[in-house]
Amino acid sequence: MGRAVRRIVYDERQIADKVAEMGRQIGAAYPEGELLVLGLLKGSFIFLSDLVRQIRRPLQVDFLVASSYGDNTYSSGNVRLLYDPETQLEGKHILLVEDIVDTGRTLTRLMDLMKARNPRSLEICALLHKHIATELKYPTKFVGFDAPNEFLVGYGLDHAENFRHIPYIASLQ
Ligand code: PRP
Repeated sequence: MGRAVRRIVYDERQIADKVAEMGRQIGAAYPEGELLVLGLLKGSFIFLSDLVRQIRRPLQVDFLVASSYGDNTYSSGNVRLLYDPETQLEGKHILLVEDIVDTGRTLTRLMDLMKARNPRSLEICALLHKHIATELKYPTKFVGFDAPNEFLVGYGLDHAENFRHIPYIASLQ
């Protein structure tokens, strides 16, 4: 696939334990009201599907499709919205689910867009956070791992669309 995996950063067991813990936290954080979990595709698709099965309360699921990276290992800063959720957002607790917060550009843009739809609350959940997000105007309420500043792949994350299917998270050479 052009690039080689350098090391496993989080293995399957670490990820499963963390996702279960996050599911419990999220369930406890929303004692009442309608909860809409919005997964940002494509990167969050595996995390989202594991996470919602660990949240023991009623919820709905929809998606956002945005794109900020091309086939390079740097962020272009160009966020495009390719799919908008069809579900009504107004009056609901909205939880935006991201695989990774890198520069924060994607989330800042999407949070601005979602806020304009008058949700009851609006929060971010990210499995990985590099904590270098100088451009993220919003706090990330639910964070799985404080990730190293390396190019990470697997468990939904890609490099040039490869590696998304590997069940652990690894860094590239
Ligand atoms: C990646 C990743 C995040 C975003 C993070 O998405 O999934 O959504 O970049 O980067 P940022 O914090 O610098 O904005 P990408 O645009 O590569 O699309 P994908 O989810 O389809 O892989």
